[in-house]
Amino acid sequence: MLEAESLVKSFGKLIAVDHFSMNIERGEVKALIGPNGAGKTTFVNLVTGALTPDEGRIRLDSRCIVRLPSYKRARLGIARTYQIPKPYPNLTVLENVMVSSIYAAGLEGEDAMSAAVEALKYVGIYNMADKLASELNAEQQKLLDFARALAARPKYLLIDEIGAGLSVDELEGLASKIRAVAKQGVGVLYIGHIMKMVKSVADWVIVMNEGRKVTEGTYDDIANNEEVIKIYLGEKGAVE
Ligand SMILES: Nc1ncnc2c1ncn2[C@@H]1O[C@H](COP(=O)(O)OP(=O)(O)O)[C@@H](O)[C@H]1O
Ligand SMILES: [Mg+2]
Repeated sequence: MLEAESLVKSFGKLIAVDHFSMNIERGEVKALIGPNGAGKTTFVNLVTGALTPDEGRIRLDSRCIVRLPSYKRARLGIARTYQIPKPYPNLTVLENVMVSSIYAAGLEGEDAMSAAVEALKYVGIYNMADKLASELNAEQQKLLDFARALAARPKYLLIDEIGAGLSVDELEGLASKIRAVAKQGVGVLYIGHIMKMVKSVADWVIVMNEGRKVTEGTYDDIANNEEVIKIYLGEKGAVE
């Protein structure tokens, strides 16, 4: 289990994450939703080690990892995708994914290559393997980032706002891929605004606002929760 316990992170006077706790088991998909600025990406950064919390604990299979640098957490099986992907622009798509299969999954040679190929085929951009990452459009870069995260062979995968800009069909395809990844034993945290996507991927939904957990429950619980509706009022397309 990946557990975050009472995490706190401030930026100056702003408390971006405020005593926030949650956990994910391998094989399940949870969604983390909340308006812009709620603290979702900051939470991901705390879990991966990009940021250090002011307070709180993070445990991976009962081991405290809060002081480990991010590359060690990656090796232990925590992967994430980025709200704004930053591939190495001058490496090819395949090379970008191989960086992950080598350094995060710890694979070598042919194994690293075939893990990268497999990830690219899985997300559907293998036909672009030899292009430079800089040649991809924004949506393709998101898929490359997804492939990079999968090639790390994660136990836990945090997917930050992957669906923006994709068509309804593409979202459906992505949702079924995310579910299939979980079925293979990966614990997935899906972070996003698109409630259709949340509904189709997640077994459990956690709502965050102003750094704190507002409530959590099944999609139906959340969609009918008055406080959640109030928070989302005015957020375009959030609840439908
Ligand atoms: N590096 C940073 N420095 C200062 N403020 C930050 C930083 N990162 C995030 N914030 C602030 O923290 C709050 C939470 O941001 P974020 O975690 O990105 O929210 P979300 O992903 O839910 O939209 C916002 O008010 C944001 O402006
Ligand atoms: Mg964010």
